[in-house]
Amino acid sequence: MQTARTVVITGCTRGLGRAMIPLFVDEGWRVAGCGRNADQIAELGRHWPAPHFFSPCDVSRDEDVAAFCAAILEKAGPPDLVLNNAAIINPNAPLWETSAEDFSRIIDINIKGPAAMMRHLLPAMLKRGSGVIVNFSSGWGRCTAADVAPYCATKYAIEGLSMATAQDTGGKVAVIPMNPGIIDTDMLRSTFGGEAGGFPDADDWARRAVPFFIKLGPKDNGKPMTVTGG
Ligand SMILES: NC(=O)c1ccc[n+]([C@@H]2O[C@H](COP(=O)([O-])OP(=O)(O)OC[C@H]3O[C@@H](n4cnc5c(N)ncnc54)[C@H](OP(=O)(O)O)[C@@H]3O)[C@@H](O)[C@H]2O)c1
Repeated sequence: MQTARTVVITGCTRGLGRAMIPLFVDEGWRVAGCGRNADQIAELGRHWPAPHFFSPCDVSRDEDVAAFCAAILEKAGPPDLVLNNAAIINPNAPLWETSAEDFSRIIDINIKGPAAMMRHLLPAMLKRGSGVIVNFSSGWGRCTAADVAPYCATKYAIEGLSMATAQDTGGKVAVIPMNPGIIDTDMLRSTFGGEAGGFPDADDWARRAVPFFIKLGPKDNGKPMTVTGG
């Protein structure tokens, strides 16, 4: 019998991360997920018990990421697919109305979070010699808009971080910056308000995204990609 493949999903308590869980479970994957909301994490653990596992983890805290990744490696070995999905967006405002603390916070979560996940998981994945890491970028990692300069800065950084790390791995582990499209989630509502309702919801998106992610491999290393139709 084939051993279950493992997918790691950061930010699985809401939005896109949460919507992907049941689809991976239905495909026979083991899911390892994290988020900051401990109540929601406990609820996910009750709904999907072992071999799945869910852990409170703030990806901006290296010690949290180290503990989460150590638990993954101990329980499941090197993961097959890592979805660095967790992120925040700044409240709509021009840069000069964004405090230094808020700017640091978005950098810490959106850039340092995926970097920490890769730092703690890539050595084991490279040693095994396979796997895919998808770093969630955005349309706003490839073009800009008013009122979201801090978020744009982090998503442009995700593109560069992913493509340069892909050069480091040489494709032994594929590292891919991924624009998920535009989807009606808490994050989109923060930026678009009620207009977010005109976009597909997270469950609809996950039905297209999960089969797409499962097919990614070494040929995709370092290529900026987009979940189409979103
Ligand atoms: N929705 C869109 O249209 C859209 C468009 C382009 C790109 N994206 C990207 O897609 C990804 C998912 O977005 P979404 O719309 O699903 O956002 P969302 O609905 O706001 O959900 C974000 C998730 O990230 C988690 N999270 C936030 N900060 C975290 C931290 N410090 N540590 C761990 N988990 C954290 C949240 O859980 P907790 O609060 O429990 O921590 C939540 O589960 C993001 O990378 C986003 O930039 C989304």
